Amino acid sequence: MTRIALAALIAFAAGAQAQAVAPQASAAMTAEQDHDLMMRALGIRKLRPGPSGNESAPNHANYDEATATPYPNLPDALTLRNGQRVTTAEQWWKERRPEIVEDFEREVYGRVPKTVPAVHWQVVVTDREMLGFTPVVAKQLVGHADNSADPAIAVDIKMTVVVPANARGPVPLLMMFGRAALPAPAQPPEEDLARINAVVKQILIEKDSSLRAVFDRYPAYEPVTRAAQNPFAFLQPQTPGGDPPTTAQLIADGWGYAYIDPASIQADNGAGLTRGIIGLTNLGHPRKPDDWGALRAWAWGAARGLDYLEADPAVDAKHVGIEGVSRYGKAALVTLAFEPRFAMGLIGSSGKGGATLHRRNFGEAVESLAGTGEYHWMAGNYLKYAADDATFGRKTAADLPVDSHELIALCAPRLTFISYGIPEKGDAKWLDHEGSFMATVAAQPVFRLLGAKGLGVSDDYHDAKMPPVNVGLLDGQLAWRQHDGGHTDAPNVKYFIKWADGFIGHSARR
Ligand code: GCU
Repeated sequence: MTRIALAALIAFAAGAQAQAVAPQASAAMTAEQDHDLMMRALGIRKLRPGPSGNESAPNHANYDEATATPYPNLPDALTLRNGQRVTTAEQWWKERRPEIVEDFEREVYGRVPKTVPAVHWQVVVTDREMLGFTPVVAKQLVGHADNSADPAIAVDIKMTVVVPANARGPVPLLMMFGRAALPAPAQPPEEDLARINAVVKQILIEKDSSLRAVFDRYPAYEPVTRAAQNPFAFLQPQTPGGDPPTTAQLIADGWGYAYIDPASIQADNGAGLTRGIIGLTNLGHPRKPDDWGALRAWAWGAARGLDYLEADPAVDAKHVGIEGVSRYGKAALVTLAFEPRFAMGLIGSSGKGGATLHRRNFGEAVESLAGTGEYHWMAGNYLKYAADDATFGRKTAADLPVDSHELIALCAPRLTFISYGIPEKGDAKWLDHEGSFMATVAAQPVFRLLGAKGLGVSDDYHDAKMPPVNVGLLDGQLAWRQHDGGHTDAPNVKYFIKWADGFIGHSARR
């Protein structure tokens, strides 16, 4: 990029009049360049670096509980900015919740611009498949975002939707962030394959007549064969001694599921911010400090997926959940918080930027999320809280107007299941399980104010202690369970299904 182009970009990101610059080269920016641009727009000269995840590194993350809570007091979810206590549900919906939403949008996850283009869903394939013993209808869909304003940027959201074929009515459904592939594509029976092969041979011979001799020599040879497929592979546990895969459990319980592909909505890197749905909405320009990051973009994509499901008569759209693990656990929590049409969420190992407190200093830090590898998940403004030297001075996590307990509270009174595994099996300490539990505890009062049940433990988050591993707190709409597996939510899925079934009045009908 030329220096002039860079200067133009800086002027743009700084909020200069849009018409003054038309940064052509933006699509070619690296994450480092884009990050640098955002720092300048914010007046940040120096960021504190994030700690290392490697425990033997000299700058490793803090893993000492004694020093993990430098800012013990959280902003009160039920106190208005003017200091008044929130005592009624009406006050929450009309006054406090909008304040919290505004703070999260401006400072943490960014806003979805009003100009975000519409998405048009198209069913590409409808397939009748078998999942183990259960017949299902599997659909492959593409959600095309209108890119007439910038045809150079294409956004085609990939989603698969799978429902039991013989359900007696619309089914609850869990939408998961992940690769959208059909589970077990149906293949033609022998007689159709024979016809296909006859034509294929004919075409090959037309193309090269010497092939006739080859086919004559091997008269039983068929060029097109069935892909090896084991319909029961679908039921195989993913870990030795483990439960069947999440998808198999859902289908067996009479649920449907969907996979929505985050990468088809927004790339998982800073270089992609001028493309994907964020880039398309900005017509290829870099983000403004309060524009959305990838987490909010993925959440927006999930909401567009829900638009489609609302029009699908096979789906009980009032009972659609959102699920994700790790960075997609963060995305699932952001989705549930911002999109009230999602009825429930399974939030897997979400860590910083997800369920754990920004104010905690245990494992991953605000400074990690502000670095070039992860800042694209967040709004640009989030970088301020890792600034060591800036025109506004210095800020830390303690300066954030909100914290993650309030993100969880935005989900209330809907079904919110916070899930973790254990470090010994690979659900890294980096994720800060304890800090996530504290945040979940601190969200309880909002659930209760809205007539739902919390975890059933004391509201004092200051020294809240996680229940033992494999002991779920599953009596309320806000639930917690740390399983004894690794960086996955699979071992909690059977608990999730049973818990959700109880609240939505669903049961498996076979
Ligand atoms: C990194 C990152 C986490 C994230 C995780 C993942 O560890 O620091 O915030 O959750 O990757 O998504 O796998």
